[in-house]
Amino acid sequence: MSTQFEVRLTEQLATWTSERLLRTKRITEPIGPGQCRIDGRTFWDFSTNDYHGFSRHPEVIRAVCEQIPTLGIGSRASVLISGWSPAHEKLVRTLSEFELVDDVALFPSGYAACMGTVACLSRKEDVILCDRDLHACLVDGIRISGAKMRVYRRHNLATLERELKKSAGNTGLRWIVTESAFGMEGSVAPLPELVALAEQYDAFLICDEAHATGVYGPAGQGYLRELLEAGQLTHEQIRERIPVRLGTLSKGLGSQGGFVAGSTNLIRVLWNSARSLMFSTGLSVPACVAATAAVKLLTEQPERIHELRSRARSFRSQLIEQGFAVPGKEDSPIVPILLEDPDRTLHWGAELQAAGYLTGMIRPPTVPQGTSRLRISINSAVPQEAIDQLLHQLICLGRKDAA
Ligand SMILES: Cc1ncc(COP(=O)(O)O)c(C=O)c1O
Repeated sequence: MSTQFEVRLTEQLATWTSERLLRTKRITEPIGPGQCRIDGRTFWDFSTNDYHGFSRHPEVIRAVCEQIPTLGIGSRASVLISGWSPAHEKLVRTLSEFELVDDVALFPSGYAACMGTVACLSRKEDVILCDRDLHACLVDGIRISGAKMRVYRRHNLATLERELKKSAGNTGLRWIVTESAFGMEGSVAPLPELVALAEQYDAFLICDEAHATGVYGPAGQGYLRELLEAGQLTHEQIRERIPVRLGTLSKGLGSQGGFVAGSTNLIRVLWNSARSLMFSTGLSVPACVAATAAVKLLTEQPERIHELRSRARSFRSQLIEQGFAVPGKEDSPIVPILLEDPDRTLHWGAELQAAGYLTGMIRPPTVPQGTSRLRISINSAVPQEAIDQLLHQLICLGRKDAA
């Protein structure tokens, strides 16, 4: 006889299945620049966040293989105990220079970095104003903190300003939490405007650059660096109003892990209070070495950034010319095609898969109800012909869908 718990599990799975929201696992084997194999079939892979193919880059693999015999694999303990190796220290020095900050804290994942940092820096008496499209790890951190949470839409900053005014008499700090480049939208935050509001109302920004590293800035340092170089933000504004910068090693750098970049004091506080750093084994040694090698590649070959963004710009503009609804920044490698309905999204994804192209089929709870989408991630490691062929397939699918 089924236990009450088994009945609950079965019912939940049946609900997700009927709503076309059930996720299942499949083995995806990466086999070369921008390609993967599933069940013996080869696909061009437009579904990952590995924007430059660094997860399999020969230089990265060579660096890791050289270090493993001496430094090993696991870091064996929390970084607070004995889990901090020369590979960790080297990565921190590399990232600090790359990000132009005093220091960096490393976390076992980007999720742990975002969740743990937001949770430990904000307090119950604080007010946190967050973008409506914030990633789950930031939302979870806010919930854990117990601070008051208010939501705004970045396209309409009047709500944000209203909330800032309303919280004027608050005893705690006021935070604005945003991603710089939104992972499911391909759009960017209006950071100069957010900083201006923070200056006016004495608030501070926590900015997650997860999808901006490897994409924006002259050598992929992130969107804040891009705005700095363009004269839209100053060093002082970034240091004073965006004191907490979150990042991941798992996307544009092709490795694994998360980081926080900021002042020496910020990093010392995180080492002493971020529970996802303190009570988890340190980042693995190969992940540190791989991320260090990826940053070196970006710094030595900044033309990769230009290549990625010009490919993305051309792909997006051709889709728009063909009448597709494609939100986001014109040169973001994240290209969402809004299909609204989960069923339709799965259908388009399956058709593309049948033609040999893997894309992300994004449905709730990853995105809000009614905004299911295909998420195509442009890559600098895929041959241009594969991108052109994908475009052709999409145009054919669009015509079929409209008929
Ligand atoms: C905006 C954002 N922040 C943080 C994360 C978490 O990073 P990681 O995958 O390294 O855990 C993600 C992952 O999807 C993300 O999109």
